[in-house]
This record gives sequence, C-alpha cells and structure tokens, in this order.
Amino acid sequence: METSKLLFLSLALALAAASNAATAGAIPGHIHPLRPQLGSSAGRNIPGLNCLSWRLAVEADNIQHWTVVPKECENYVGNYMLGLQYRIDSKFVSGSAYVYAKNLTLGKDGKDVWVFDIDETSLSNLPYYAQPDNAFGAKPYNETTFTEWEKQGKAPALPATLWLYKRLLRLGFKIVFISGKTESLRAITVENMHNAGYTKWEKLILKNAEEKAEGLHAMEYKSRERTNLVKAGYRILGNMGDQWSDILGDNVGSRTFKLPNPMFYIA
Ligand SMILES: *[C@@H]1O[C@H](CO)[C@@H](O)[C@H](O)[C@H]1NC(C)=O
Ligand SMILES: *[C@@H]1O[C@H](CO)[C@@H](O)[C@H](O)[C@H]1NC(C)=O
Ligand SMILES: [Mg+2]
Repeated sequence: METSKLLFLSLALALAAASNAATAGAIPGHIHPLRPQLGSSAGRNIPGLNCLSWRLAVEADNIQHWTVVPKECENYVGNYMLGLQYRIDSKFVSGSAYVYAKNLTLGKDGKDVWVFDIDETSLSNLPYYAQPDNAFGAKPYNETTFTEWEKQGKAPALPATLWLYKRLLRLGFKIVFISGKTESLRAITVENMHNAGYTKWEKLILKNAEEKAEGLHAMEYKSRERTNLVKAGYRILGNMGDQWSDILGDNVGSRTFKLPNPMFYIA
C-alpha cells in the first residue's frame, strides 16, 4: 500500500516534469489528461504544476540558498503543508527510520544516540508560517516576529517525529536534540518540548551567545556539535532533520533522514 503510494508519487512527479516539457512544446498535449489528478494533497486543483517540480528540487537539495517560496507556489505550498500530504510524507520518513532503527543492536553502554533537529522536525512552527504575514515562506523571513512566536512556546509536535521519538526511547536510544535556537530561549524551549510530548533526552543543544556571534552556518555549527558528541564516546546511529544542513557535514550519523520542508532553506 505505502509502496504503491510512493510509486504513484514518483510517477506523478515524473509526469509533472514531462507535462511542463510538453507545455514547452516537446510533446504537445500528450500528458494533459493526467493533469487534473495532480492537484495538491488537499484535493484542490492547483494551476502551475511546476510547483511540484520545484518542491522535488528543494527536497533533493537540487536548488540551494533560495530565500522565499516563489510567489506562484504560495498556494501550492500552503495546501501541501496544511493538507494530508505533508503528514503522510513525514510519516513515511519516520516509518522508514523506525524500520532501520528497530533492526539495530544497541550497545550496553548507553552511548547509542539518535539526533533530532527541533524546528520543523520535533516541533512544528506551522501555526506561525500559516499566518498571512509569513505566507508559508512566500514572504521574507522576519526574525523579530519569529522570535516572538518562539517565546510563546506554543509550537505543537510534528506528529510523525513524536511517534518515532517514543519508539526510539523504547528501543533504548539516547536522544540528542541539536537546534540553532539560541541558548536564551532554553527555558521556553524546554517547556514547549515537554508540553508537546518530548519529556526525556540525553542532551538538548542550543547555540550560545559566542557561537551565535561566530556566525557559523547551521551545517558547520551542527557538525561541530555532533563531532563533540562522537569525541564524548557517543555513537550517532540516526539523524533526522528538515534541512540538508542538519544531515550534511561531519559525523552525520550512520543514517540520515530528511523530513519535508518546502517553506524555507537554511544553509
Ligand atoms: C537488518 O540488519 C541486518 C544485519 O545488520 C542487515 O543485513 C539487514 O539488511 C537489516 N535489515 C533492514 C531492513 O535494515
Ligand atoms: C517584521 O515584522 C514587524 C511586525 O509586523 C514589522 O514591523 C517589521 O518591519 C518586519 N521586519 C522586516 C525586516 O520585514
Ligand atoms: Mg529544522
């Protein structure tokens, strides 16, 4: 069932690309009858199929350093994020991670860890991004309003990640959260995590003032934190994030898992 859905998605993406080629004049009208079936997860017909291709390129890290969602894809991304497909895609990632994790034999020394990112991985800021001022990433990032939102500590859990988190704990993994959030937000972040259902962890690593002043890219900062873990004797067996910068760099872990996020890009 899941496999056939995946196949359908792959096929749909391929056809969407082919359809754009057709529009450009390659095979006029050839794929056209399939178009109405290719709307967003919410079941609405979204004009401009290239938003699907754009999202695939984002998820595959084929386009980088983009700053806002293309204006014409605002509705597409909104429908994707609020519709079922985002949840289904996230669940597929967590499910795949669990299939991998439950097959591992852990050491007896309590040093086997699973690394999770926080924003758009453990917690969801969708209530913030869905506001018209943010338009699912189609409006430029506003640090002021995002920090105000963070300070409220109201972000819900991403259900797929919470599901995996609970199972990993049961399997005996130690959990390490590594986030680019600043240390000054520790108290509210911890409260938010608890309220969302994340009640136990080995470490919750945030960026301190000096690290923030260094201006490292997320990939460099996270690489360094993971390297510190490895130097402390931890074995990173899994690593999950919504950005490629969560899962590229040094000591990324035995396996990495990329959650969907078509709303923003962090290098
Ligand atoms: C489970 O682990 C075994 C031994 O390491 C490996 O050969 C097999 O491919 C793994 N299966 C899955 C589904 O990961
Ligand atoms: C961020 O949002 C606030 C409140 O809406 C606004 O006053 C400010 O100009 C915005 N900043 C940027 C850089 O857009
Ligand atoms: Mg994130």
